[in-house]
Amino acid sequence: MDLTYATYLKLDQLLLLQTPRSTPPEHDETLFIIAHQAYELWFKLQLHELEKIKRDFLTNHEYGAIATFKRVRTIMKVMVEQVDILETLTPMSFNSFRARLETASGFQSSQFREFEFLLGYKRADMLRYQHLGTPGYQQMVRRLHEPSVYDAFYVFLEQRGVAIPDEIKQKDVILPTAPNEVVADGILRLYKLQPDLEILFELMTDFDEGFQEWRYRHIKLVERSIGSKKGTGGSLGVEFLKKSLFQPIFPDLWAIRHKL
Ligand code: HEM
Repeated sequence: MDLTYATYLKLDQLLLLQTPRSTPPEHDETLFIIAHQAYELWFKLQLHELEKIKRDFLTNHEYGAIATFKRVRTIMKVMVEQVDILETLTPMSFNSFRARLETASGFQSSQFREFEFLLGYKRADMLRYQHLGTPGYQQMVRRLHEPSVYDAFYVFLEQRGVAIPDEIKQKDVILPTAPNEVVADGILRLYKLQPDLEILFELMTDFDEGFQEWRYRHIKLVERSIGSKKGTGGSLGVEFLKKSLFQPIFPDLWAIRHKL
């Protein structure tokens, strides 16, 4: 049979994957499921694109990194905007099926953690919330032990003449990115001297700001949907989420803004 739109995209399988749990059916559960599935697809694409950025950095392919940062930044904007759709769900309508989620929560999204780990925001204790031995768990362990996009960025900077301190080069790969003054000074110098790199650094800052924006929008979504209730994942909810609200992904890019 000829390849068709449906067979290429495996639509028969894809469209069977939305199965609301509420009986009698709650109208809005379909939106809730599709929105989360859409996010998981975006996470998958973001991971794919960030892998490319890592390779671009390692091979000193500046324009490749610029093009792909433009893409991940744009996808991030769509991810932020998508929160609007979930905000059409009222607290009462969400409550009508919330119990059906039992202890399931976005908290357990292994792709979201992979995304954080790949970017360099590594928190090994997040493995606790995954079931041991599942593919998601294994992927998280792999990402935790792999160099991050930011580790690859150090290699890129070194190729551009920035002296990367030994303490950074010898850092345990499972630790999160830490701000470093020497690296920040090196970036500052390149910012001022090389307009092409200025474009790259601005795109990286856009992406970072976009991710923080997602965290903010998600917290507000949570606050308006469940207020001060605990999360289905067992955390304190809004209070827990606030802790990573202003978490920068590329701290050295923020540290120098007042010197530019
Ligand atoms: C009505 C909608 C939503 C509510 C009420 C909600 C609620 C929560 C709560 C309370 C938490 C804290 C963990 C817990 O105890 O459960 C959480 C975490 C999380 N949620 Fe949502 N959420 C919603 C929509 C979404 C959507 C659409 C996504 C997209 C994938 C998402 C992804 C996440 C992620 C990744 C975390 C972990 C964040 C972190 O650890 O920094 N949530 N959510």
